[in-house]
Amino acid sequence: MVRGNSVKKRIVSGMRPTGRLHLGNLHGALENWVSLQNEGAYECFYFVADWHAMTSDYSDTSLLRDYGINMIIDWLSVGLDAEKSVLFIQSNVMEHAELYTLLSMITPLSWLERNPTYKEMKTELAEKDLSTFGFLGYPVLQAADIIIYKAFGVPVGVDQLPHIELTREIARRFNYLYRDIFPIPEPLLADVPKLLGTDGRKMSKSYDNSIYISDRGDTLRQKVVSMFTDPQRMRKSDPGRPHLCNVFTFHGLYTDPSEVDEISHDCRQALIGCVECKNRLAQRIAERLKPVHDRQDYFYSHLNELDEIIADGNARASKIARMTMEEVRDAIKI
Ligand code: TRP
Ligand code: SF4
Repeated sequence: MVRGNSVKKRIVSGMRPTGRLHLGNLHGALENWVSLQNEGAYECFYFVADWHAMTSDYSDTSLLRDYGINMIIDWLSVGLDAEKSVLFIQSNVMEHAELYTLLSMITPLSWLERNPTYKEMKTELAEKDLSTFGFLGYPVLQAADIIIYKAFGVPVGVDQLPHIELTREIARRFNYLYRDIFPIPEPLLADVPKLLGTDGRKMSKSYDNSIYISDRGDTLRQKVVSMFTDPQRMRKSDPGRPHLCNVFTFHGLYTDPSEVDEISHDCRQALIGCVECKNRLAQRIAERLKPVHDRQDYFYSHLNELDEIIADGNARASKIARMTMEEVRDAIKI
């Protein structure tokens, strides 16, 4: 888009509102969103993918709206800025649904059925009935989300690569069948640290092993103190292996490099015990999250301001989406 004399590339990404954000989300996705925003080279569109959340959680939608609000508060609290980025809610920009309908006409079923994420999720979430049209169509909706803004790039994690590949194929097919309207978007992968949950498995809401961005005080301390460490270190007198310890990985993110070196040394020489090491980590995380928590408190006591931010984001996104849809209808001659 032209703003002043500069032409900025647009990037688009979304997150499903399925609960509070955890430190894995923070270091895996959000920090990347914040740096892309602050680089100033891009126009960033970030949205709450509430329709996507419904593809698997359709039977209980009672918390969907609250989750969306909480998520935007978390975003703003960790440094997304509504002046710099367009923050909005998918279901408030109806054009996504119109483009989704049109793209569904041209997307071969075989592309969706062979999608690895589809197959995996269906097996993984066996307790939910995911034999729905909406769940199969998930990547078509995602393609609509992205190309409606003519995005150049999509910051995502590796798990999303098959979806972005499908988006590219769908965009190409549209361009070929009707008119060359859509740029073919690139996935933008960030280097992300491999953070595990407190029990040593992947950090995930469904495993009950997550440290949330909103955790503070005793909750935060207790979670950190319960973290798995080097499995072979039983006693303080056993030398530890920091490179195999999830607590150490977290220190790498929250603690000054010189202290990290000291911990590494002391752990290998059995000079520091895991309890002390974890207490120090809890302290560092609490310090780092303090300003985040202050901003969360601010927004929870100024919800009107949040409403304005969302309304403004919705309007800015709608403006672009409407323009694209005019072109799309014209190309299809509908
Ligand atoms: N599928 C994404 C996820 O689970 C969420 C999403 C929906 C998305 N629409 C998108 C991501 C568009 C990037 C662009 O994380
Ligand atoms: Fe991990 Fe720290 Fe224990 Fe070493 S001392 S094993 S780094 S928790």
